[in-house]
Amino acid sequence: MLGKTTARMLHALSPETAHDLTVEVFGRIARTPLISSSIRRDLLVKDPKLSQELFGDALKKPIHFRNSIGLAAGYDKRIKFIAGADVIGFGFTEVGGITLLPQNGNPKPRLWRHAEERSLQNFMGLNNPGIAQAMSKLPINQTGARRHSIPIGVNLGKGKNTPNEEAVSEYHALMRGMHSRVDYMTINVSSPNTKGLRDLQSERTIQEIFSLTNSFTTPVMLKISPDIDASKAIYLCKAAVDCGAKGIIATNTTTDYSLLRNPKSVGGISGAALREKSTKVFAVIAKELFGKCVLIYSGGVSSSADAIERHRMGASLIQIFTALVYEGAEVVKKINRGISDTIRREHCKDITELIGSRLG
Ligand SMILES: Cc1cc2nc3c(=O)[nH]c(=O)nc-3n(C[C@H](O)[C@H](O)[C@H](O)COP(=O)(O)O)c2cc1C
Repeated sequence: MLGKTTARMLHALSPETAHDLTVEVFGRIARTPLISSSIRRDLLVKDPKLSQELFGDALKKPIHFRNSIGLAAGYDKRIKFIAGADVIGFGFTEVGGITLLPQNGNPKPRLWRHAEERSLQNFMGLNNPGIAQAMSKLPINQTGARRHSIPIGVNLGKGKNTPNEEAVSEYHALMRGMHSRVDYMTINVSSPNTKGLRDLQSERTIQEIFSLTNSFTTPVMLKISPDIDASKAIYLCKAAVDCGAKGIIATNTTTDYSLLRNPKSVGGISGAALREKSTKVFAVIAKELFGKCVLIYSGGVSSSADAIERHRMGASLIQIFTALVYEGAEVVKKINRGISDTIRREHCKDITELIGSRLG
Protein backbone atom coordinates (compact mmCIF):
# COMPACT_ATOMS: atom_id res chain seq x y z
CA MET A 1 0.00 0.00 0.00
CA LEU A 2 1.27 3.42 -0.97
CA GLY A 3 4.49 1.91 -2.22
CA LYS A 4 6.32 3.13 -5.29
CA THR A 5 4.11 1.00 -7.59
CA THR A 6 0.93 2.42 -6.04
CA ALA A 7 2.40 5.91 -6.38
CA ARG A 8 3.01 5.23 -10.09
CA MET A 9 -0.55 3.91 -10.57
CA LEU A 10 -1.97 6.98 -8.86
CA HIS A 11 -0.15 9.09 -11.42
CA ALA A 12 -2.68 7.92 -14.01
CA LEU A 13 -5.17 10.15 -12.19
CA SER A 14 -5.13 13.93 -11.98
CA PRO A 15 -2.75 15.00 -9.19
CA GLU A 16 -5.48 16.36 -6.96
CA THR A 17 -7.77 13.34 -7.42
CA ALA A 18 -4.86 11.02 -6.68
CA HIS A 19 -4.05 13.01 -3.57
CA ASP A 20 -7.63 13.07 -2.28
CA LEU A 21 -8.00 9.34 -2.93
CA THR A 22 -4.79 8.54 -1.06
CA VAL A 23 -5.79 10.64 1.93
CA GLU A 24 -9.30 9.15 2.01
CA VAL A 25 -8.45 5.49 1.40
CA PHE A 26 -5.17 5.25 3.25
CA GLY A 27 -6.52 7.46 6.02
CA ARG A 28 -9.31 4.89 6.55
CA ILE A 29 -6.99 1.90 6.35
CA ALA A 30 -4.74 3.51 8.93
CA ARG A 31 -7.67 3.75 11.32
CA THR A 32 -8.40 0.01 10.98
CA PRO A 33 -6.40 -1.52 13.85
CA LEU A 34 -5.48 -4.95 12.41
CA ILE A 35 -4.34 -3.70 9.01
CA SER A 36 -2.64 -0.60 10.37
CA SER A 37 -0.55 -2.53 12.86
CA SER A 38 0.78 -4.77 10.10
CA ILE A 39 1.64 -1.76 7.89
CA ARG A 40 3.25 0.00 10.84
CA ARG A 41 5.34 -3.11 11.56
CA ASP A 42 6.58 -2.99 7.99
CA LEU A 43 7.22 0.74 7.71
CA LEU A 44 8.15 2.18 11.11
CA VAL A 45 11.88 2.36 11.83
CA LYS A 46 12.17 1.71 15.55
CA ASP A 47 15.40 3.20 16.79
CA PRO A 48 15.57 5.22 20.02
CA LYS A 49 18.67 6.98 18.66
CA LEU A 50 16.41 8.76 16.13
CA SER A 51 14.28 10.32 18.85
CA GLN A 52 14.55 13.84 20.29
CA GLU A 53 12.98 15.87 23.08
CA LEU A 54 12.34 19.38 21.76
CA PHE A 55 10.70 22.65 22.79
CA GLY A 56 11.14 22.02 26.53
CA ASP A 57 12.10 24.78 28.96
CA ALA A 58 11.81 25.61 32.63
CA LEU A 59 8.04 25.96 32.30
CA LYS A 60 7.23 23.36 29.70
CA LYS A 61 7.73 19.63 29.36
CA PRO A 62 9.57 18.84 26.09
CA ILE A 63 7.78 17.18 23.19
CA HIS A 64 8.96 13.70 22.27
CA PHE A 65 9.65 13.09 18.57
CA ARG A 66 10.26 9.40 17.75
CA ASN A 67 12.13 10.48 14.61
CA SER A 68 12.92 13.72 12.82
CA ILE A 69 10.95 13.23 9.59
CA GLY A 70 7.56 14.96 9.45
CA LEU A 71 4.72 15.33 6.97
CA ALA A 72 4.72 18.93 5.68
CA ALA A 73 1.72 21.27 5.71
CA GLY A 74 -0.75 21.05 2.85
CA TYR A 75 -0.92 17.26 2.62
CA ASP A 76 -3.57 16.90 5.33
CA LYS A 77 -5.63 20.05 4.93
CA ARG A 78 -8.83 18.41 6.14
CA ILE A 79 -7.25 16.63 9.13
CA LYS A 80 -8.02 13.14 7.90
CA PHE A 81 -4.53 11.72 7.77
CA ILE A 82 -3.04 11.85 11.28
CA ALA A 83 -3.37 8.08 11.71
CA GLY A 84 -2.01 7.67 8.17
CA ALA A 85 1.10 9.73 8.95
CA ASP A 86 1.59 7.73 12.14
CA VAL A 87 1.25 4.36 10.40
CA ILE A 88 3.61 5.33 7.59
CA GLY A 89 6.29 6.02 10.20
CA PHE A 90 6.53 9.81 10.26
CA GLY A 91 7.88 11.38 13.43
CA PHE A 92 5.30 14.17 13.36
CA THR A 93 2.74 15.80 11.08
CA GLU A 94 1.61 19.37 10.38
CA VAL A 95 -2.08 19.62 9.48
CA GLY A 96 -3.66 22.51 7.56
CA GLY A 97 -3.14 25.28 6.48
CA ILE A 98 -6.24 26.30 8.32
CA THR A 99 -7.96 29.66 8.01
CA LEU A 100 -10.65 31.17 10.22
CA LEU A 101 -13.43 30.58 7.70
CA PRO A 102 -13.76 27.62 5.32
CA GLN A 103 -12.28 28.26 1.85
CA ASN A 104 -12.71 26.45 -1.46
CA GLY A 105 -9.36 27.61 -2.77
CA ASN A 106 -8.63 28.46 -6.38
CA PRO A 107 -10.50 26.87 -9.31
CA LYS A 108 -9.23 23.49 -10.54
CA PRO A 109 -6.89 22.42 -12.04
CA ARG A 110 -4.53 23.85 -9.43
CA LEU A 111 -1.98 21.08 -8.87
CA TRP A 112 0.46 19.88 -11.52
CA ARG A 113 3.17 17.21 -11.65
CA HIS A 114 6.55 17.86 -13.21
CA ALA A 115 7.54 14.21 -13.02
CA GLU A 116 10.89 14.40 -14.79
CA GLU A 117 11.95 17.10 -12.40
CA ARG A 118 10.47 15.23 -9.41
CA SER A 119 8.54 18.42 -8.59
CA LEU A 120 5.00 19.69 -8.11
CA GLN A 121 3.46 23.06 -8.78
CA ASN A 122 0.41 23.99 -6.71
CA PHE A 123 -2.02 26.86 -6.83
CA MET A 124 -4.38 25.43 -4.23
CA GLY A 125 -5.07 28.73 -2.43
CA LEU A 126 -5.41 27.42 1.14
CA ASN A 127 -8.51 25.32 0.49
CA ASN A 128 -9.54 24.07 3.93
CA PRO A 129 -12.61 23.41 6.11
CA GLY A 130 -11.99 26.37 8.47
CA ILE A 131 -11.12 26.52 12.14
CA ALA A 132 -14.46 25.31 13.57
CA GLN A 133 -14.15 22.03 11.67
CA ALA A 134 -10.45 21.78 12.53
CA MET A 135 -11.27 22.22 16.22
CA SER A 136 -13.83 19.45 16.08
CA LYS A 137 -11.24 17.13 14.54
CA LEU A 138 -8.67 17.98 17.21
CA PRO A 139 -10.48 17.94 20.55
CA ILE A 140 -8.85 19.52 23.60
CA ASN A 141 -6.63 17.15 25.44
CA GLN A 142 -8.01 17.43 28.97
CA THR A 143 -6.25 14.53 30.62
CA GLY A 144 -2.81 15.40 29.33
CA ALA A 145 -2.66 11.91 27.79
CA ARG A 146 -1.48 11.84 24.19
CA ARG A 147 -4.25 11.02 21.72
CA HIS A 148 -1.90 10.38 18.85
CA SER A 149 1.45 8.67 18.94
CA ILE A 150 3.10 11.49 17.02
CA PRO A 151 3.21 15.24 17.70
CA ILE A 152 0.73 17.32 15.70
CA GLY A 153 1.42 20.82 14.42
CA VAL A 154 -1.14 23.08 12.77
CA ASN A 155 -0.34 25.48 9.94
CA LEU A 156 -2.28 28.75 10.22
CA GLY A 157 -3.00 31.11 7.34
CA LYS A 158 -4.80 34.37 6.78
CA GLY A 159 -8.14 34.11 4.95
CA LYS A 160 -8.34 35.13 1.31
CA ASN A 161 -10.78 37.98 1.99
CA THR A 162 -9.16 39.33 5.13
CA PRO A 163 -7.38 42.64 4.54
CA ASN A 164 -3.75 42.59 5.61
CA GLU A 165 -4.50 45.25 8.27
CA GLU A 166 -6.63 42.64 10.06
CA ALA A 167 -4.13 39.80 9.66
CA VAL A 168 -2.53 40.10 13.10
CA SER A 169 -5.84 39.79 14.93
CA GLU A 170 -6.83 36.90 12.66
CA TYR A 171 -3.62 34.98 13.47
CA HIS A 172 -4.31 35.71 17.14
CA ALA A 173 -7.81 34.24 16.86
CA LEU A 174 -6.42 31.19 15.06
CA MET A 175 -3.83 30.63 17.80
CA ARG A 176 -6.43 31.07 20.54
CA GLY A 177 -8.60 28.44 18.87
CA MET A 178 -5.88 25.89 18.24
CA HIS A 179 -3.21 26.17 20.94
CA SER A 180 -4.69 23.65 23.35
CA ARG A 181 -5.33 21.09 20.62
CA VAL A 182 -1.90 20.67 19.04
CA ASP A 183 1.76 20.33 19.97
CA TYR A 184 2.94 23.31 17.93
CA MET A 185 1.54 26.02 15.64
CA THR A 186 3.02 27.50 12.48
CA ILE A 187 2.45 31.05 11.27
CA ASN A 188 2.25 30.74 7.51
CA VAL A 189 2.96 34.06 5.84
CA SER A 190 4.79 32.43 2.96
CA SER A 191 2.26 30.58 0.79
CA PRO A 192 2.39 32.18 -2.65
CA ASN A 193 -1.24 31.40 -3.48
CA THR A 194 -3.11 33.87 -1.28
CA LYS A 195 -2.89 37.39 -2.64
CA GLY A 196 -0.92 39.67 -0.35
CA LEU A 197 0.01 36.92 2.14
CA ARG A 198 3.74 37.20 1.54
CA ASP A 199 3.53 40.97 2.16
CA LEU A 200 3.04 39.99 5.81
CA GLN A 201 6.70 39.01 5.82
CA SER A 202 7.58 42.42 7.22
CA GLU A 203 9.47 43.05 10.43
CA ARG A 204 6.58 44.96 12.00
CA THR A 205 3.92 42.34 11.26
CA ILE A 206 6.18 39.50 12.37
CA GLN A 207 6.92 41.34 15.61
CA GLU A 208 3.23 42.01 16.19
CA ILE A 209 2.20 38.40 15.57
CA PHE A 210 4.98 36.81 17.62
CA SER A 211 4.55 39.19 20.56
CA LEU A 212 1.14 37.55 20.95
CA THR A 213 2.58 34.06 21.17
CA ASN A 214 3.93 34.46 24.70
CA SER A 215 0.50 33.96 26.22
CA PHE A 216 0.47 30.38 24.88
CA THR A 217 2.59 27.51 26.20
CA THR A 218 2.32 25.83 22.79
CA PRO A 219 5.42 26.63 20.72
CA VAL A 220 4.88 28.77 17.62
CA MET A 221 7.03 28.59 14.45
CA LEU A 222 7.51 31.00 11.58
CA LYS A 223 7.47 29.46 8.09
CA ILE A 224 9.25 31.57 5.54
CA SER A 225 9.47 31.83 1.78
CA PRO A 226 12.54 30.83 -0.22
CA ASP A 227 11.99 33.87 -2.45
CA ILE A 228 13.21 36.54 -0.03
CA ASP A 229 16.82 37.62 0.01
CA ALA A 230 19.24 36.35 2.61
CA SER A 231 19.49 39.51 4.69
CA LYS A 232 15.71 39.85 4.86
CA ALA A 233 15.33 36.19 5.81
CA ILE A 234 17.77 36.68 8.67
CA TYR A 235 16.24 39.81 10.13
CA LEU A 236 12.68 38.45 9.87
CA CYS A 237 13.59 35.20 11.56
CA LYS A 238 15.59 36.99 14.24
CA ALA A 239 12.70 39.38 14.85
CA ALA A 240 10.34 36.42 15.21
CA VAL A 241 12.64 34.62 17.65
CA ASP A 242 13.29 37.79 19.67
CA CYS A 243 9.53 38.18 20.07
CA GLY A 244 8.85 34.57 21.06
CA ALA A 245 9.02 32.22 18.04
CA LYS A 246 10.31 28.83 19.16
CA GLY A 247 11.26 27.68 15.70
CA ILE A 248 11.69 28.49 12.03
CA ILE A 249 10.48 26.39 9.12
CA ALA A 250 12.52 27.06 5.99
CA THR A 251 11.05 27.00 3.45
CA ASN A 252 7.67 27.14 1.73
CA THR A 253 7.31 26.69 -2.08
CA THR A 254 8.98 29.00 -4.62
CA THR A 255 7.60 31.14 -7.44
CA ASP A 256 10.90 31.04 -9.30
CA TYR A 257 9.53 29.50 -12.51
CA SER A 258 12.96 29.42 -14.12
CA LEU A 259 13.54 26.25 -12.08
CA LEU A 260 11.21 24.19 -14.30
CA ARG A 261 11.38 23.43 -18.03
CA ASN A 262 7.61 23.81 -18.60
CA PRO A 263 6.23 25.75 -15.66
CA LYS A 264 2.65 26.91 -15.25
CA SER A 265 2.40 30.65 -14.74
CA VAL A 266 0.86 30.42 -11.25
CA GLY A 267 1.48 28.66 -7.96
CA GLY A 268 4.41 27.46 -5.91
CA ILE A 269 7.01 24.86 -6.86
CA SER A 270 7.99 22.06 -4.47
CA GLY A 271 10.22 19.01 -4.71
CA ALA A 272 13.65 18.55 -6.25
CA ALA A 273 13.51 21.83 -8.21
CA LEU A 274 13.10 23.72 -4.93
CA ARG A 275 15.89 21.96 -3.03
CA GLU A 276 18.83 24.24 -3.80
CA LYS A 277 16.90 27.42 -3.11
CA SER A 278 15.54 26.19 0.23
CA THR A 279 18.97 24.93 1.22
CA LYS A 280 20.57 28.34 0.60
CA VAL A 281 17.94 30.17 2.65
CA PHE A 282 18.12 27.54 5.40
CA ALA A 283 21.92 27.85 5.56
CA VAL A 284 21.91 31.59 6.21
CA ILE A 285 19.23 31.24 8.87
CA ALA A 286 21.02 28.34 10.56
CA LYS A 287 24.23 30.32 10.75
CA GLU A 288 22.43 32.98 12.81
CA LEU A 289 19.87 31.00 14.76
CA PHE A 290 21.19 27.48 15.37
CA GLY A 291 20.96 26.82 19.10
CA LYS A 292 18.58 29.74 19.65
CA CYS A 293 15.42 28.02 18.38
CA VAL A 294 14.38 24.78 16.69
CA LEU A 295 15.17 24.77 12.97
CA ILE A 296 12.95 22.76 10.64
CA TYR A 297 14.00 22.20 7.03
CA SER A 298 11.43 21.86 4.23
CA GLY A 299 12.18 21.73 0.48
CA GLY A 300 12.91 18.82 -1.82
CA VAL A 301 14.19 16.22 0.64
CA SER A 302 13.75 12.76 -0.89
CA SER A 303 16.63 10.62 0.41
CA SER A 304 18.53 9.90 3.59
CA ALA A 305 21.55 11.70 2.12
CA ASP A 306 19.42 14.85 1.69
CA ALA A 307 18.10 14.53 5.23
CA ILE A 308 21.49 13.86 6.84
CA GLU A 309 22.98 16.88 5.07
CA ARG A 310 20.17 19.13 6.39
CA HIS A 311 20.65 17.73 9.90
CA ARG A 312 24.36 18.49 9.72
CA MET A 313 23.44 22.01 8.59
CA GLY A 314 21.43 22.50 11.77
CA ALA A 315 17.92 21.15 11.12
CA SER A 316 16.51 19.33 14.14
CA LEU A 317 13.45 18.30 12.15
CA ILE A 318 12.74 17.86 8.44
CA GLN A 319 9.43 17.96 6.61
CA ILE A 320 8.59 16.26 3.32
CA PHE A 321 5.64 16.37 0.93
CA THR A 322 6.58 15.98 -2.74
CA ALA A 323 8.86 12.96 -2.18
CA LEU A 324 5.89 11.11 -0.72
CA VAL A 325 3.96 11.71 -3.95
CA TYR A 326 6.75 10.38 -6.19
CA GLU A 327 8.39 7.74 -4.01
CA GLY A 328 5.44 6.43 -1.99
CA ALA A 329 5.28 5.82 1.74
CA GLU A 330 8.49 3.79 1.85
CA VAL A 331 10.49 6.97 1.40
CA VAL A 332 9.98 7.73 5.11
CA LYS A 333 11.37 4.33 6.08
CA LYS A 334 14.32 4.71 3.70
CA ILE A 335 15.21 8.13 5.09
CA ASN A 336 14.94 7.03 8.72
CA ARG A 337 16.85 3.81 8.05
CA GLY A 338 19.63 5.81 6.39
CA ILE A 339 19.87 8.25 9.31
CA SER A 340 19.88 5.37 11.77
CA ASP A 341 22.70 3.60 9.87
CA THR A 342 24.75 6.81 9.76
CA ILE A 343 24.36 7.36 13.51
CA ARG A 344 25.79 3.88 14.10
CA ARG A 345 28.51 4.07 11.46
CA GLU A 346 29.77 7.36 12.86
CA HIS A 347 29.49 6.13 16.47
CA CYS A 348 27.19 9.02 17.41
CA LYS A 349 25.41 8.92 20.75
CA ASP A 350 22.17 9.68 18.89
CA ILE A 351 20.76 11.96 16.16
CA THR A 352 21.52 15.10 18.19
CA GLU A 353 25.23 14.60 17.47
CA LEU A 354 24.55 14.87 13.74
CA ILE A 355 22.48 18.05 14.12
CA GLY A 356 24.57 21.13 13.42
CA SER A 357 27.78 19.08 13.15
CA ARG A 358 28.80 20.98 10.04
CA LEU A 359 28.28 24.41 11.55
CA GLY A 360 31.66 24.45 13.30
C1 LIG B 1 -0.26 20.76 -2.75
C2 LIG B 1 0.54 21.50 -1.73
C3 LIG B 1 -0.12 22.22 -0.75
C4 LIG B 1 0.60 22.93 0.20
N1 LIG B 1 -0.07 23.63 1.18
C5 LIG B 1 0.63 24.29 2.13
C6 LIG B 1 -0.04 24.98 3.18
O1 LIG B 1 -1.27 24.98 3.27
N2 LIG B 1 0.72 25.67 4.06
C7 LIG B 1 2.10 25.70 4.00
O2 LIG B 1 2.75 26.34 4.83
N3 LIG B 1 2.75 24.99 3.05
C8 LIG B 1 2.06 24.30 2.12
N4 LIG B 1 2.75 23.59 1.16
C9 LIG B 1 4.22 23.58 1.17
C10 LIG B 1 4.77 22.34 1.87
O3 LIG B 1 4.38 22.31 3.23
C11 LIG B 1 6.31 22.29 1.80
O4 LIG B 1 6.83 23.38 2.54
C12 LIG B 1 6.82 22.37 0.38
O5 LIG B 1 6.05 21.54 -0.47
C13 LIG B 1 8.29 21.94 0.26
O6 LIG B 1 8.48 20.62 0.64
P1 LIG B 1 8.64 19.40 -0.44
O7 LIG B 1 9.63 19.88 -1.45
O8 LIG B 1 9.11 18.25 0.39
O9 LIG B 1 7.30 19.20 -1.03
C14 LIG B 1 2.03 22.89 0.19
C15 LIG B 1 2.69 22.14 -0.79
C16 LIG B 1 1.97 21.44 -1.74
C17 LIG B 1 2.71 20.63 -2.79
